[in-house]
Formats: sequence, C-alpha cells, structure tokens
Amino acid sequence: MSRFFDLVSKTARDMPAYIPAPPGVFTEGSPQLLRLDSNENPFGPSPRAVEAMRSLLPDTNFYPDDNCSGLRHKLAAHHGLPEDQVLITAGSTALLAILCQTLLAPGLNAVTSERSFIVYSLAAHATGAQLIKAPMRDNGFDPDALLAAIDSNTRIVFLANPNNPTGSMLDAFAIETFIARVPGHVVVVLDEAYIEYAAHFASLGEFTLPRSLDYVKLGAGVVVLRTFSKIHGLAGLRIGYGLGPAELLNYCARMRNTFSVCSMAQAAASAALDDRGYIQRVVESNALEAQRLAKELTGLGLRVAPTSANFLYCDCGELANKYTAQLFDMGIVVRPLGAWGAPTAIRVSIGTPEQNQVLLSAIRSFVS
Ligand SMILES: Cc1ncc(COP(=O)(O)O)c(C=O)c1O
Repeated sequence: MSRFFDLVSKTARDMPAYIPAPPGVFTEGSPQLLRLDSNENPFGPSPRAVEAMRSLLPDTNFYPDDNCSGLRHKLAAHHGLPEDQVLITAGSTALLAILCQTLLAPGLNAVTSERSFIVYSLAAHATGAQLIKAPMRDNGFDPDALLAAIDSNTRIVFLANPNNPTGSMLDAFAIETFIARVPGHVVVVLDEAYIEYAAHFASLGEFTLPRSLDYVKLGAGVVVLRTFSKIHGLAGLRIGYGLGPAELLNYCARMRNTFSVCSMAQAAASAALDDRGYIQRVVESNALEAQRLAKELTGLGLRVAPTSANFLYCDCGELANKYTAQLFDMGIVVRPLGAWGAPTAIRVSIGTPEQNQVLLSAIRSFVS
C-alpha cells in the first residue's frame, strides 16, 4: 500500500485523472505540433487583447481586482443584466467546479448526457456526488432522457450547447420546452462555451439560436456559462463567467479562490470583447472551413457529424486510434474519443485554412 492511500479522502482516491493532451505536446524542446485537439482559436487572440496585456506587464507586482469590477460592469452592460448576475472566474471550468461545490455533496447528483464535456464528471465527483449520464439521441442531448434521469437528489443538470465533443445543438424551441419541464430543485447550467460560433451558424439560417439569457432575466433557475477561451482566443489566460440568479452567484462567489482571475486576463478579456471585427472574421472563417473540411473528410471515408461549433466529430470506425497515431507521427494532434465512450470517433478542431489543408493532405496520404 502506498504511503498516502489511507491519508487522502475517499473522494480523492476515487477521482479519475484527466488527460488534457497526449504525451509530448507540452514537452520542452519537442518539435512544433499542429494542435487540433482542444478547440482553441487558431488565429490567436485579438491584437487589442495582446496590447492590453502588454501595457499591464509593469504592474504585475499588484494583486488583481478580486471582484473584476471593470470587466463585470462591462459584461453586465453587454448582456443587459445587473452586475450581481455576473460572476467572473478563472475559466468556465472553474465555475463548473464552484457550482458543484456550492450545490452538490455526497448523496446528491448532477445529470448530463453521455458523450459530453468531461469536466462535468470531474467537478461533480470532486464533491463526492454522482454524475448521471443520460443516453443521447442522434449524437446530441436528448431532453426527454435528461428529464427522466432527474430524481429528488438531483441539484444540477449540465447542458453543453453546442455540445463538446459531438458539435450538436439544441435549438430555441427545444431549450424552451426543456427548461419549462425541469423541476424547481434543479439548477440548469447552460454551458455556452461555443455560442459565438453557433450564433453565426444560426444567422446563416441553420437553426434558431436559444434565447438563454431571457431565462436568466426572467429569474429562472438557470446559469449560462460563457468563456474567453474559444472565440476570444484567450484559453491560456483562464477566464470565463456565469450569468445567473444573483443569490446563487453570491453563494458561488464565497466559494471562489481569492485573486484567482489575474489582472492580465481581466484586461485582455475586456479588450477582446470590444473587437467585434475580429470576432466576425473568426466565425466567418470557421463556418466556411467547417463546411469544406466536413466535405473533404467525408470524401476520405470519415463519417462527420454536423457541427455548430469550431470542431468536427468524426467517426472513423475501427481506424480511429490508428489515424490519431499516424497524424501524431506527422506532427498533428487530434483528440481520440475513447475516454468519452466513443472509441471509433475522433474530434478535430477547425483550424485556419492553411492548417486544415495540412490536416487534409496528411489524412489523404495514408488513406489512399
Ligand atoms: C463545453 C465546454 N465548456 C467549457 C469549456 C472550458 O472553458 P474554459 O477554458 O473557460 O474553462 C470547454 C473547453 O473545451 C468546453 O468544451
């Protein structure tokens, strides 16, 4: 028996490990890889965000504003909500963990779908609670299955919209009817990490975008999560936020780590929010490339699911692990989805047009 096995909590012993990237990706001195595995923004941050960070460099001897006052004020105005309905955290994953610590405990549970964001499981299990995974329908969340999984011990239902890793989306009508049927003892967490990409697809007439903030404005038990990691290209800075009932967010705020959102992140996020031109260019490129990449990959024999986000869910049958390994050998990282219970699938982030060309040429070279 190891030295600490009996010392750590049962919860810590039972926690599964999260593997964020394959070995080699973060090894110093290893060759530059084309990283298409974590749904990051391939264009980098907005130049305005970079400038905001640069101008703060001499001031990093000071602690950050723990309440993120400036950014909070700006986000409240941006979304038409009072400031006490906005909570900024070190990435939206931090808020997922805080929501679980605030609402869950051993004996309680959260509900989500199978093949959804892996952090829901980690955050729920870290509190000693259970995560119930409802079955999917057509690679997407099934509202009826989620409702059927809810019991008297459920406190949270996590709904990623668009969903990671399948890229599926529930539209305005589906969300409206779902929220109306969720019992009052359950908080609905609408995780909208990819909403800007989805909004662009919706503007092309593909579906009606859910009016998620309306539920927050109407005082429903709904927390909408947003992040600066995706469209704003600031994943390395760790900043995201939630919009929800003031009373619940106030409890969550008490559970935060002090000074967890650094001053660089606050300044960069604020500048990024203002750069509408940059956001527009990124979503337009993403939509064009999603269409092109899906068509080409389908031509190469992969089964590609429709996406409302910045990545593609590709079923490669029994070749999924082989493709992942072959691409890695060629310096391209994609995500195999065995840990999500989808051993025949990979997830590929949509890169710049040039990066996507590199990916396609690589796949073509070993498929043909
Ligand atoms: C559905 C979903 N929510 C949240 C996040 C993480 O966001 P953050 O970087 O703000 O923690 C991701 C990242 O991949 C995601 O896919």
